[in-house]
Amino acid sequence: MSSPGFAEIPLPGRRATIRLWHEDGLAGIVRRRGRAGFDAIVTSPPYNLRQPYASYRDDLPREAYLAWIGELGAAADRALSAGGSFFLNVGSPPRDPWLAWDVARRIGERFVLQNVLHWIKSIAIDRRHAGRASGVARDLALGHYRPVGSTRYVHGAHEYVFHFSRTGTVPIDRLAIGVAYQDRSNARRWRDGRRGLRCRGNTWFLPYATIQSGARDRPHPATFPPTLAEWCLRLHGVARIHRWADPFVGIGSSAVAAVRAGRTFEGFDIDRGYLAEARRRVREALRAEGAGSNGAGPARSRAAAGSTRGSAAS
Ligand SMILES: C[S@@+](CC[C@H](N)C(=O)[O-])C[C@H]1O[C@@H](n2cnc3c(N)ncnc32)[C@H](O)[C@@H]1O
Repeated sequence: MSSPGFAEIPLPGRRATIRLWHEDGLAGIVRRRGRAGFDAIVTSPPYNLRQPYASYRDDLPREAYLAWIGELGAAADRALSAGGSFFLNVGSPPRDPWLAWDVARRIGERFVLQNVLHWIKSIAIDRRHAGRASGVARDLALGHYRPVGSTRYVHGAHEYVFHFSRTGTVPIDRLAIGVAYQDRSNARRWRDGRRGLRCRGNTWFLPYATIQSGARDRPHPATFPPTLAEWCLRLHGVARIHRWADPFVGIGSSAVAAVRAGRTFEGFDIDRGYLAEARRRVREALRAEGAGSNGAGPARSRAAAGSTRGSAAS
């Protein structure tokens, strides 16, 4: 690769820039870590499930794959700041439930597993379990999952987000992604309750946006919604993030999260087509943020102030 610099997009009104690199992500995060290292790494590697990526062959022998994940852990160890958070999204197919945990164990050779978060893509809620105060009037079946034809397995409707840190003691901002109490009458008794919010817990319901055409609306076989990365940043604390990175940026879901959070971001991928789509989505997100703040540039400290957003438009 002659020049890995693919795109550099300043965030208007912020001293922050989004950079996309056509470069190996493991080498990239080490090369571009800066003096203090990245305050957060949020990423989703290939899962070795034969996904039809444009430039990457997703079919290594298991041990070779896990050895490569070990190299990712070593690169993250060199690239992350002392108080940084490393959020790793991985899923397991129903026929291989240990996959995500095997990956987590390799990364855990260098980091402490501080939180295990569950990205829920689809959920069914029976009205009678929702309770009267919820206002839920009928049984709900929300979100999407990839159907598996099987007489043995139920559909896989969740993935993991493993939150690693160096010591397991990185302070987090739970209420930055908190949820409103449904019944506030007792909330004052709890310290967090005075803000009317409680911790979201480790189940994050984030459905994929409904799309009409994969090729047009989500031209990549394995993305996460931008809000997933955004919630990771906010859980770590946006105010404590100066620079952060995604070594496997794909079509730029993390880069869109960087626009929303208003923080400098370095994203890497080995496929130029994905990077071009990432650049397009960043520009689209900038337009959306500009519209949301009356054209005055990205909504400045919305994420830093901890306000909530709706689910992703991925
Ligand atoms: C699971 S996808 C990430 C998708 C991304 N989170 C999104 O929402 O668009 C993994 C990505 O890693 C890229 N990739 C594979 N090997 C890589 C490497 N060594 N360095 C950088 N990117 C790589 C693939 O091209 C693919 O886009």
